[in-house]
Amino acid sequence: MMGADYDLVVRGGTLATAAEVFEADIGIRDGLIAALGRGLGRGTEEISAKGMVVTPGGLDSHCHLEELGQDGSAQEESFASGSAAALAGGTTSFLCFLPQWKGRSLADSAPGYEARARASRADYGFHQIITDPTPEVMEREVPALVARGIRSLKVFLTYDPLMLTDRQFLQVLAAARRLGAFVTVHCENYDAIGWRIEALLKAGLTDPLQHAWSRPPVVEREATHRAIALAELVDQPIQVFHVSCEAAAAEIAAAKARGLKVWGETCPQYLTLSHDDLQGPDFAGAKAVCSPALRERAENERVWRRIQDGTLDVVTSDHCGFSFATQKRVAGSSAYGTGAAAARPDGTPMFNAIPNGVPGIETRLPVLFSEGVSKGRIDLPTFVRLSSANAARLFGLAGRKGSLAPGADADLVLWDPDAERTIRNAGLHHAIDYTPWEGMAVKGWPEVTLRRGEVAARGGEVLAQPGSGRFLARGPYDLARPRGVVPDGFDAAAQG
Ligand code: URP
Ligand code: ZN
Ligand code: ZN
Repeated sequence: MMGADYDLVVRGGTLATAAEVFEADIGIRDGLIAALGRGLGRGTEEISAKGMVVTPGGLDSHCHLEELGQDGSAQEESFASGSAAALAGGTTSFLCFLPQWKGRSLADSAPGYEARARASRADYGFHQIITDPTPEVMEREVPALVARGIRSLKVFLTYDPLMLTDRQFLQVLAAARRLGAFVTVHCENYDAIGWRIEALLKAGLTDPLQHAWSRPPVVEREATHRAIALAELVDQPIQVFHVSCEAAAAEIAAAKARGLKVWGETCPQYLTLSHDDLQGPDFAGAKAVCSPALRERAENERVWRRIQDGTLDVVTSDHCGFSFATQKRVAGSSAYGTGAAAARPDGTPMFNAIPNGVPGIETRLPVLFSEGVSKGRIDLPTFVRLSSANAARLFGLAGRKGSLAPGADADLVLWDPDAERTIRNAGLHHAIDYTPWEGMAVKGWPEVTLRRGEVAARGGEVLAQPGSGRFLARGPYDLARPRGVVPDGFDAAAQG
């Protein structure tokens, strides 16, 4: 009896890649895709994918797990629970955040965080947040991080404890360019938000809906325009994170049309939720407070159009683990809030002191598949680009993640495109006490998730153990390189 040709064969599925859809088997050896084709030889194990759509495992390039606050306390969503949720929802790898706090070194800002991440069941990497770009941080600590494979930075243009001035942002862009690191940006105008919050509170308007009123689209549009202009000045590639509206997306489209290396990310919340979700009895609107804020209902379709025309390249979860009972109802319980941590007479926070962010690491892909593919807004290759392939390109993981080609990690999701489910928090694997998509009907469901050739989740049961995820070190890559175009031919960033 001859030995098997592969460790595992996923047989007879409809494969969707970033470019095409075709019928084939997938042969897997040593955790990697070894072959694609019809009628592949035998596997030691075989999984039938008949009637299923097979995509690369999701890469969620923006989520917050077990993130450390200034006092060293960790967000409620642990790496073990958040990664279980990721796998159950078809996401096999993710990038989350190492914080920096003003006045502190990187090392002092996140003690033990990388050790915590080793509990992940999915593969993981980090973006480094920069809030205080001192020469020591930018010339000593960041180069050491980049050398260890942490090759992307996030900067905030708002939030009191996090925001950078334009001058500091330029310093970060220039340092990133010298190091071959990629920069991601939270684009909202800090002073405009502060000014409107003050006026809203003076007017006695304190409800969760006023969170959106404090930061309307023009606030996001202005900061997006400025971030792109400053990145152009330095000649540094950037991705604009969590784009919520047409006005900001139009800035990205204009930058792309001029050949700049600018990319855009959005999230399911900006495609499906709206001001309606910021209202409701018993402070329920707090569950949907995130920044940028949710927009009016009509904006959802405009963001879809910016996906369809290629302006927005990636859909991430921006998962934030703030439970309704423990954090959303506690004023100032996160750095992701703005201004004084004041409570109202009933004890609930003023809108500006509600922790910003929603949980969505498990629902990201089912919502995108259902609202996108099943409703005919996007085709399967677009789904693959948005859910994994583009993030892999942008963050230095191309060839390894987001691909069904031989040599790639065998991260696969078997989707039942006809399965109809109702999202219920009780059925999710995260540690958070609510989902903003409670009761939403979806069509299309990730039945089986394979991570590096092993069944990591099947039928809602997570089989991958804590600690089985691997750190994704990222080396130099072309997309993060500058264009070589600077004003007047004078390269200020090269001066150090
Ligand atoms: O509201 C959000 N997005 N919270 C998470 C922090 C961030 O800005 O990504
Ligand atoms: Zn952000
Ligand atoms: Zn975020």
